[in-house]
Amino acid sequence: VSGVRAIGVELGDRRYDVLIGAGARHELPGLLPPGARRAVIVTQPGIEVAVDPGIEYDVVEIGRGEEAKSLATIEKIGRAMAQVGLARSDVVIAVGGGLVCDVAGFAAATWHRGTPLLNVATTLLAQVDAAIGGKCGVNLPEGKNLVGTYWQPRAVICDLDTLESLPPEEWRSGRGEIAKYAFIGVDGVVEMSLADQVAACVALKARVVAADEREGGLRMILNYGHTLAHALEAAGFAIDAAETALQASTDAMYPASRQPSLRHGEAVAVGLVFAARLAAALGRIGPDRVAEHEAVLRAFDLGCDLPFGADPARLVEYMRRDKKAHGDLSFVLDGPSGVEPVRGVDPVVVERVLAEMAGAGVP
Ligand SMILES: NC(=O)c1ccc[n+]([C@@H]2O[C@H](COP(=O)([O-])OP(=O)(O)OC[C@H]3O[C@@H](n4cnc5c(N)ncnc54)[C@H](O)[C@@H]3O)[C@@H](O)[C@H]2O)c1
Ligand SMILES: [Zn+2]
Repeated sequence: VSGVRAIGVELGDRRYDVLIGAGARHELPGLLPPGARRAVIVTQPGIEVAVDPGIEYDVVEIGRGEEAKSLATIEKIGRAMAQVGLARSDVVIAVGGGLVCDVAGFAAATWHRGTPLLNVATTLLAQVDAAIGGKCGVNLPEGKNLVGTYWQPRAVICDLDTLESLPPEEWRSGRGEIAKYAFIGVDGVVEMSLADQVAACVALKARVVAADEREGGLRMILNYGHTLAHALEAAGFAIDAAETALQASTDAMYPASRQPSLRHGEAVAVGLVFAARLAAALGRIGPDRVAEHEAVLRAFDLGCDLPFGADPARLVEYMRRDKKAHGDLSFVLDGPSGVEPVRGVDPVVVERVLAEMAGAGVP
């Protein structure tokens, strides 16, 4: 297909390409592992993306929303694979957003102790982030992504045509993640075409993953803006796609029921502004750099304020409990030598910065 670009994720003998462009899904047959005789496609109802691997295939549909990202779903997929006789030399194909890629990836990683995987990413967030890098897994009732592993795909397809049916909140969510890249090495992202935005973000993620596959150091820059985002999610200010649909239907009946709610990338957007303001409060960056953060988010039509009703003290508590925080307050913050991890930040400063961000959101 003309106009499709390939960006390599250089991991030695596990290297793979990310194909980006309109119609890139038609490249699928050429990406199959040699010898694969059948495929299992994992997807969700409502994702109407037609893919044809060119070999015999079966489709397994999983549920929507984080509740479907579960061990029960892995069992369901595994049983379907057993029933169709999927062999270790066959292939699993994820067709969906980050949730489908994470679940299908874990199913592939564990099916016969490792079966080839192809990701066809159909949300903007999955194309610029979730489908690349090999992290996969599921949630437990006790927390998100607690059971998982690394399993690199054989290839990733980012077909821009598949994004046409995305609802507005999923576009915003993806743009929140793209905004993150604007501060960790992708310059001029706001002015780029969609294809260039996706390619530039993929190229950066590919470089980071190639340098630090298992998050020993550098890969943590990808968590920029995420400490507060995770706290907002834990505190109930963010919702998943299944809840968005439910809320839309109840809002029609009870408009007053609308609660503050953000998709993941929208929470990251707020987290980016917070990270910039915190870095400024700690003397690491100046006000101009904070303004740059806000300008990128405004250009992407993303909010910069804490959601109405968010309590700074409670958010600080959630941030202390973040699995990457080791008990103290750790952040990934901008500074004179770029974005880097900062440990042991004073909770008084954190709470004050949060309180300032809440101010603007109160009617
Ligand atoms: N593995 C990683 O490195 C990584 C990185 C970031 C996020 N994630 C994970 O990704 C998940 C979030 O991914 P997401 O934001 O893509 O959400 P998602 O996968 O839940 O998709 C959002 C909604 O969009 C729908 N959808 C998908 N493609 C569509 C299309 N083309 N047209 C219309 N609707 C479509 C889905 O059915 C879903 O309802 C989380 O579970 C998160 O933990 C993983
Ligand atoms: Zn994210």
